[in-house]
Amino acid sequence: MTTTSGKGPSGAGGGSQAPRSGEVDGAPEADASPNGHGGNGNETPGSGPGAGEGVAPLARTDGAGAVGVTIADPAGARPGPAERLAGGPVMLGPIRRMVTLSLDGAEARVPEGSTILEALHGEGTAEQADTPTLCWAPNMDPINACRVCVVEVEGSRTLVPSCARKCEDGMEVRTDTEKVRHSRRMVLELLASSVDMDQASDDVQRWMSGYGVDPTRYGPPAAPAAAGERDRRHPGHHPLPDGSTAATVAQPVKIDNELYVRDYSRCIMCYKCVNACGTDAQFTFAIAAAGRGFDARIATEHDVELPDSACVYCGNCIGVCPTGALKSVAEHDKREAGDWHPDEETVTTTVCSFCGVGCNLELHVQQGEIVNVTSPSDHSVTHGHLCIKGRFGFRHVQNLPEA
Ligand code: SF4
Ligand code: SF4
Ligand code: FES
Repeated sequence: MTTTSGKGPSGAGGGSQAPRSGEVDGAPEADASPNGHGGNGNETPGSGPGAGEGVAPLARTDGAGAVGVTIADPAGARPGPAERLAGGPVMLGPIRRMVTLSLDGAEARVPEGSTILEALHGEGTAEQADTPTLCWAPNMDPINACRVCVVEVEGSRTLVPSCARKCEDGMEVRTDTEKVRHSRRMVLELLASSVDMDQASDDVQRWMSGYGVDPTRYGPPAAPAAAGERDRRHPGHHPLPDGSTAATVAQPVKIDNELYVRDYSRCIMCYKCVNACGTDAQFTFAIAAAGRGFDARIATEHDVELPDSACVYCGNCIGVCPTGALKSVAEHDKREAGDWHPDEETVTTTVCSFCGVGCNLELHVQQGEIVNVTSPSDHSVTHGHLCIKGRFGFRHVQNLPEA
């Protein structure tokens, strides 16, 4: 499945495709955009540097030569690639100064505005590019909530989140110090001691094992909360821990609609769903963080059930959730029944047939049945996000009864 690149217009960028060094300062080559796509797709033909090439001014019929605005003459001769390059690099995006920084002692050059994580993805070694992340996604603006991606920066009093901190000229970044490793281990360990991480991605499992995470050292998990009990907690009224068990967010799964479940025993409060429902994609604002401290949780307005909320069931929150807290009812039921087979899953990319927008769909198929639908995060139309029809409207393909 495609996991690269970024969301284009915001310039968040797919760090793994950040441009290589070698560009001229202040004049990046054609593919030197932050997302490595040769521009972010927003360039308008004929605008920006180089506009006017291949555009012939209309001659006045009174013999006075070319005057006024120039407009394209479709029959005019257009210069070839060699002529266009004769004057220097062809610039297709905004000019971005290159900044030079050090990644564990090795010099790296990246376009100004790149985050440290983008520099690590694009210019770093395989180990540096494998910086753990939980609240970051290539198709979202940095959220900066989990702090598992921290690195040391010379002169900075505290560790800094690499997913959000911009590179600066002369910056010295260290990614594998004892302080960094200890901090990442603590983040993962505290999360794993209070949240069910069993369905987090293979990468997360690998990071937890690689950093020596041992959540059991906080004691056995405390008893789960009753349905709705955590939702009724008020700031300042957190029950004291008993000292012998580890507090957790365990609680029953919320199933109040036919399309997706909310299993907040698995929620790490990364805020991805909130931002996907809000300003990153959907602009519906059906969910937000409620409560404070350990009682913080994701909730609908006034904690109403989803059908009574503003939710439009686009499922974009499901698409970005890193731990399996949000998933389709179909996936939930299959997992509960022991009928979930991720090792056998194939993914086929196609185009949604519901309307003319042309969203790319990834059909996740297990044992001959479509079990989920997603969209590639680097697709220029969807940036990984879909509507209710694309994400959930697939049962008719197999003549299955609608949910
Ligand atoms: S399904 Fe869409 S509208 Fe509903 S909570 Fe998730 S992101 Fe918001
Ligand atoms: S439900 Fe998922 S996406 Fe939302 S805050 Fe929790 S872990 Fe993050
Ligand atoms: S991934 Fe950087 S703060 Fe969460």
